[in-house]
Amino acid sequence: MGHETAPLDPADWEEFRALGKQIVDDMVDYLAGVRDRPVWQPVPDAVRARLATELPRTGTPMAAVYQDFCESILPYPRGNIHPRFWGWANGSGVPIAAYADLLASVMNCTLGSGENAAMLVERQVIDWLMQAFDWPDTGSGVLTSGCSMGQIIALAAAREARTGGWDVRRDGNLAGPQLTVYGSTETHHSVEKAVELLGIGRTFFRQIPVDEDFRIEVAALREAIREDRAAGFHPLCVVGNVGTVNTGAIDPLEELVALAREAGLWLHLDGAFGAFAYLLPSHRRLLACLNQADSLVFDLHKWLYLPFDVSCVLVNRPDALEAAFSSTADYISRTDRGPAAYEVAFSDRSIEQSRRFRALKVWFALRTHGIDAFADAIAGNIEQIARLTELADASEALEVVSRSRLNIATLRYVWPQGGAQALDQVNREILSQLQVGGLAMPSHTVIDGKFVIRVANNNHRTTTADIEFLVDRIQAIGDRLTRQLPAAPRGDSR
Ligand SMILES: Cc1ncc(COP(=O)(O)O)c(C=O)c1O
Repeated sequence: MGHETAPLDPADWEEFRALGKQIVDDMVDYLAGVRDRPVWQPVPDAVRARLATELPRTGTPMAAVYQDFCESILPYPRGNIHPRFWGWANGSGVPIAAYADLLASVMNCTLGSGENAAMLVERQVIDWLMQAFDWPDTGSGVLTSGCSMGQIIALAAAREARTGGWDVRRDGNLAGPQLTVYGSTETHHSVEKAVELLGIGRTFFRQIPVDEDFRIEVAALREAIREDRAAGFHPLCVVGNVGTVNTGAIDPLEELVALAREAGLWLHLDGAFGAFAYLLPSHRRLLACLNQADSLVFDLHKWLYLPFDVSCVLVNRPDALEAAFSSTADYISRTDRGPAAYEVAFSDRSIEQSRRFRALKVWFALRTHGIDAFADAIAGNIEQIARLTELADASEALEVVSRSRLNIATLRYVWPQGGAQALDQVNREILSQLQVGGLAMPSHTVIDGKFVIRVANNNHRTTTADIEFLVDRIQAIGDRLTRQLPAAPRGDSR
């Protein structure tokens, strides 16, 4: 007896198979040839117009839809899979994980709760990550979409754990004294958003000054906590940075651990990319205290090179997440046997109920390559940044504006007569020419009022030659631009 196909399944599975084979073939070529394409290119107007359509009421053959994808979408990516992409804090994507993402969508499990292998895989992956950081095995964790989500989850756990005198989940923040959270002025804006969303209020995210290396001033932090206590507030949490987004600065972790303990505050660490340097013997001492925090967030889609999105929150107390997020709704309660007889419910560890099987790509990637291969790639990225600063230091036309022990350096083109405004303008133009020309994709930031070219290397495809090419191009474009400036004065005196 033949089976009828469900209306939204392929009418012809063989045709579906053939398209799948074609897609895999094409994508392998696409990945293997990534270096030969521009890092980035603008979406032409004609393509924009093709993408802006009415809601499709009726179907189009899947092969034609795929053709449209190949013509209008695939050639215009963000650029982060390219070997010369070093913008923001994006990862490059290891190919095996793409297969895992396909398999995860085929299985289409949701990982809120349930007794099935997908849930076991996420538990296993979290356990591996805890091992990678020598995290206390009494701790626990959950995978999330990104560190922005992770900050909310971790701060909610902090709030639950450190507001002893009242039931904050039931009665809200206003049932107790005003909560305060502390982090350096270099802290990522996602922490500020988390503080806003948790109803604490942005004013009460106390931004503590940094030293010349962009690390939090611990004495100022201690004083801010003291003042807030004296004012009747309830200091809740210190947020430490393990790699700031601007410059890759690492706060003095040992001192933060000691201060948070002494003052009775939760210590949350944002290790979005930097946490992975813990894998390297060269960085182990610097990051030794990382696993003494109450919570840690890190993105596997940054410096573990996995495709978006996958991130992790770890807490060091077994029930800290459940205390903040567990639910007793009847329709998700456990049964004695079968698919609802689960031990762990990830929906009790975060905000999300429906959750994709993002653990599968971590499982595939770690099993395929082993954590040591990732550590080698991370060490390579750090060495490439060291090469960048070495070359810039050796050049009279380049100034290194910030350095880090991690994978970020900022620099700019300089010349003797360049005033502040002209320097900013020329460096903006250098960056545009690099990006729009599809040559390389660093990003930018502003440090001490200076517009700088920011190179953040979370890229397993980058070679030292790519870095040398970047330095060479910055210098050549800068030389050309400054030659075109009026002879004297070539700057201004802002
Ligand atoms: C230091 C730091 N923290 C947090 C985040 C936010 O992470 P996500 O983009 O995964 O939400 C970033 C993103 O770049 C970051 O660099």
